[in-house]
Amino acid sequence: MIRILRLILLPYLLAAVALSQEPKPSPTVIALKAAHVVDARAGRVLDRQTVLISGDRIEKVGPSLEVAVPPGATVIDLGPATLLPGLIDSHTHLTGDPRNAGYRSLGISVPREALTGAKNARVTLEAGFTTVRNVGASGYSDVALRDAINAGELPGPRMLVSGPPLGITGGHCDENLLAPEFNYHAEGVADGIPAVMAKVRETVKYGADVIKFCASGGVFSKGDLPGAEQYSPAEMAALISEAHRLDRKVAAHAHGTQAIIDATNAGVDSIEHGSLIDDAGIAALKQHGTYLVADIYNDDFILGMGKQYGFTDEMLEKERMVGQQQREGFRKAALAGVKIAFGTDAGVYPHGWNAKQFAYMVKYGLSPMQAIQSATVNAADLIGWADRAGAIEPGKFADLIAVQGDPTTDVTVLEHVQFVMKAGQLVKNELAKK
Ligand code: ARG
Repeated sequence: MIRILRLILLPYLLAAVALSQEPKPSPTVIALKAAHVVDARAGRVLDRQTVLISGDRIEKVGPSLEVAVPPGATVIDLGPATLLPGLIDSHTHLTGDPRNAGYRSLGISVPREALTGAKNARVTLEAGFTTVRNVGASGYSDVALRDAINAGELPGPRMLVSGPPLGITGGHCDENLLAPEFNYHAEGVADGIPAVMAKVRETVKYGADVIKFCASGGVFSKGDLPGAEQYSPAEMAALISEAHRLDRKVAAHAHGTQAIIDATNAGVDSIEHGSLIDDAGIAALKQHGTYLVADIYNDDFILGMGKQYGFTDEMLEKERMVGQQQREGFRKAALAGVKIAFGTDAGVYPHGWNAKQFAYMVKYGLSPMQAIQSATVNAADLIGWADRAGAIEPGKFADLIAVQGDPTTDVTVLEHVQFVMKAGQLVKNELAKK
């Protein structure tokens, strides 16, 4: 009986399906013309190019003389500007703000933190960063932010998020500001091999795309030392292999020499900060193909403005221990050919200032093109998105930015991004020909 009914109803059902799919708008086609385009993969600049965009993807790139603009396409002519792939910052804290550092952080609720993130997501996108890897937030506020952006409810970059970073009791990723009677531990605290394995699983369960852990002490934590290792090599190995089993990459906060070496040997995907890296550390990173993500602009902000932002004396003192050394270590690593991905730790300093770091990367050993590559092809490779971001190529997301001037001779022009497109949608355009 049911079968007969089904047969009778089938044509109607099919018609209904066809109808519900009916007004399927054909994807918007945009032809973006620019005098210069940075081919980040090849490390060269191409002149007079047209990029054809269909829906949220890049369809074609080529010389304007050869790429036919399809009828009905919207033409956006960027004039003399230089077009680049949308930038990627592989170390942000969008839900963090420099004003909320130190003891003030204790008064910030998770919902308040999420709203701070909503503000910073827009600022970051408008600064030309169309993708971020967010490595540390409370209460899964980063997961909520990512999901709201993906649902189209808020403007912001694509986000890969870590949720709460894993760390030892009393370490950089714990919360050490409260007296013992409060008996408070940060959510990511896990000690011992079974505990770190369980914590990785839990973090993935609640939405993490990537796992972050604290291999060494830090600057913005009470009572620990950036140079001292925190997790044991055995704990790191268990944590990393568990994350990899679940297909998640792992980022290690590691300032100290030994922490850098042990995390790298344990198979971590990136060393964050890397401040006290030595020759053995550089050799280990090279051997394993591990990325260095060094926030080398940070020191200027922390020492210059930290006091007025309420950073504690302990933080400032620890910053003096690592800041300049981090830059020298970065130079050595860069010259030795260590893979470098751009990451700023924005959140320690104001969001939207991310691009200030390019000038420091150039001052400390990279060519302007290498600095651009660190924030495009390299960062895309690090985060596992080489197939969709970091280059202006057919099939990639139409995430594009443009600047006036030549970023391959003067990277500071990246501090003034004047055109931003994400997924084929215009975010801002201050270049449009009048
Ligand atoms: N979040 C890092 C920490 O607290 C910031 C380090 C900033 N300093 C630097 N020179 N990169 O350890």
